[in-house]
Amino acid sequence: MASAREKLLGQFFTPEPVAASLVGWAVHNGDIVLDPSCGDGEFLRQLDGGLGVELCPENAAVARERAPGAEVVVADFFQWAESRGSSFDAAVGNPPFIRYQQFNGETRKRALRLSRRIGADFSRLTSSWAPFIAVSASLLKPGGRMAFVVPAEIGHATYAAPLIEGLCGHFESVAIIAVREKLFPHLSQDAWLLFAHGKGGHTESIGFTAVPQFRPDLRPERPERQVPVTTWRALGGRLRKFLLPSRALQLYVDLSRRIGCRTLGQVADVTIGYVSGANDFFHFSEQAARLFDIPAEVLRPTVRRGEQLTADYVDDNAVRRWLGANEDILVLDLSGVKALPPPVRDYLNSTAGQEARTRYKCRVRDPWYVIPGVERTPSAFITCMSGRQSRLSINRAGAVCSNSVLAVTLTKRVSQSNLLRGWRHPLSRLSQELEGHPLGGGMLKLEPGEARRVHIPLPPFRSSKLENEAMVEAVGLMHTWRHYGPDANRG
Ligand SMILES: C[S@@+](CC[C@H](N)C(=O)[O-])C[C@H]1O[C@@H](n2cnc3c(N)ncnc32)[C@H](O)[C@@H]1O
Repeated sequence: MASAREKLLGQFFTPEPVAASLVGWAVHNGDIVLDPSCGDGEFLRQLDGGLGVELCPENAAVARERAPGAEVVVADFFQWAESRGSSFDAAVGNPPFIRYQQFNGETRKRALRLSRRIGADFSRLTSSWAPFIAVSASLLKPGGRMAFVVPAEIGHATYAAPLIEGLCGHFESVAIIAVREKLFPHLSQDAWLLFAHGKGGHTESIGFTAVPQFRPDLRPERPERQVPVTTWRALGGRLRKFLLPSRALQLYVDLSRRIGCRTLGQVADVTIGYVSGANDFFHFSEQAARLFDIPAEVLRPTVRRGEQLTADYVDDNAVRRWLGANEDILVLDLSGVKALPPPVRDYLNSTAGQEARTRYKCRVRDPWYVIPGVERTPSAFITCMSGRQSRLSINRAGAVCSNSVLAVTLTKRVSQSNLLRGWRHPLSRLSQELEGHPLGGGMLKLEPGEARRVHIPLPPFRSSKLENEAMVEAVGLMHTWRHYGPDANRG
């Protein structure tokens, strides 16, 4: 498993055959070559010369030793790039993958500003690797080429779209090779390959190839398909959808346009549940509620974890079962309570209450003990982290939910059974795979925005048995891409 330092600086070094293959494609004799985050110098080692930038002096020292012909600069790449013109023929490497929470301050500000040089307008939620590539692209001479290892997030992250738009607007050709088998076996993150050449040109399509394993002879010139940029945009800027064979993707698109097919967002509000700010304090088992004499009127059953959603309905039986197992699934709901019942007042003033009110989320709300959103009763819940498939459970117990699951509130007249049936339909299951994203360990993550885009067939929608079988097969394929199931890691 990766260490904290490795994660903080995105220090994962590229296997030799991968680096050699990318260098072999991007670099011609006599080229001036940049590796913007050279680490221990795996790419530089493959070059006769080259310039590497590296933040970490220890890595830079190793790089110098391994690639004596190269120049290695110890610097923050973006700071270094600020005063540079377009002076490189080629760029290669494997940029650090540092999530936006750690990729912050001046470095991020500068990175986002410099990325606009190629028209890539990133939000502050961008992970570091995308600006590394955009800024490297900006340092290439006309006609320049580049080849990078990139996180598979390029297939689904919101910030992948501005990068791809920027590259298509500044290169004659842009291609991506999706590799199913992990290039970094000890990381949960999958990695794909990105190629671009002909700096100064532009392209209306993205070359896309999906392969089970890395092969040293992989080249972007003859991609499996050329995805028109307009099609990619129309499909939400998600290259991940093109992992499906063309026929399956076409069928998916056709079915999603068929009468009766809606997106979840067209018929419901989808949000995450409440954030209590002090879970231990605000949640009770039946026994604990009795102990503190908390009246039933201010307690609501709640879904705190996706694992609670094991059936189609959250009903009184389910609640009784959870309480019977002594689970803390009663949440304190003091919204709309004018006069606090004396036992509740005592509980709020207890030592635990004194401590809870100092927590950040409690401190910033008034009054501190009313959990925002706890009063809203959703129509249904959806697991936002799932194994085989995401589950939707209809709320028949007046329950609420925490932010570990998605809260669905119907805004259009859709019956409970149609909503359930729609979510379980093979078209919707495939849509969950395509609109959601892999989280590592085989899990599928559905953010609220992703869940809103999931297609649900509702009456009078019709599909044939053959079409449904094709969708089920496509779901199986997407499982292999997120490494779910016993065969998932086989090539
Ligand atoms: C994923 S590693 C890749 C290293 C090497 N290119 C390879 O593929 O083997 C990323 C490297 O970027 C370095 N790094 C992180 N932030 C940086 C920054 N702002 N400027 C330059 N290098 C940085 C890390 O220390 C790490 O060595």
